[in-house]
Amino acid sequence: MRASSKAPLRGSRVALLVAAARKARRYARADYSKFRVGAALETSTGVIVTGCNIENATYGLTLCAERVAMFKAISEGHRRFRRVAVVADTAKPTPPCGSCRQILWEFGGDLEVVLANLRRETGRMRLGDLLPLPFDRRLLK
Ligand code: THU
Repeated sequence: MRASSKAPLRGSRVALLVAAARKARRYARADYSKFRVGAALETSTGVIVTGCNIENATYGLTLCAERVAMFKAISEGHRRFRRVAVVADTAKPTPPCGSCRQILWEFGGDLEVVLANLRRETGRMRLGDLLPLPFDRRLLK
């Protein structure tokens, strides 16, 4: 495939992924923080798996949108991923928290991370740049 024909395809994939994360955010159970987040993971075969944050009365058992998306994807048999989109209703970028960075790295590797709010993209980076010195299986030797 020519490089020039790949770029628009990638752009529309990212737009689809962000749209899926925005939709997933509507299902957030953020009854305590009121901070609703949606996430969408794109697998290596182009399948999109979504998640939203789920809080509960203990607070501490809260699951972020990114981890819900990743655990759903793993439980459905997906093993390789390209990128993740994270959507929150904030003017500034809302990046994955430390726990989510660890889990995304473990199962997704150096994903492209696309951050967006309800109107526009707010940031794009690699997961490796968000987690520059990861603890992972390579250290368990
Ligand atoms: N949250 C996420 O779901 N993803 C993030 O990237 C940041 C934080 C959730 C956790 C909690 O339900 C709420 O946002 C406030 O921290």
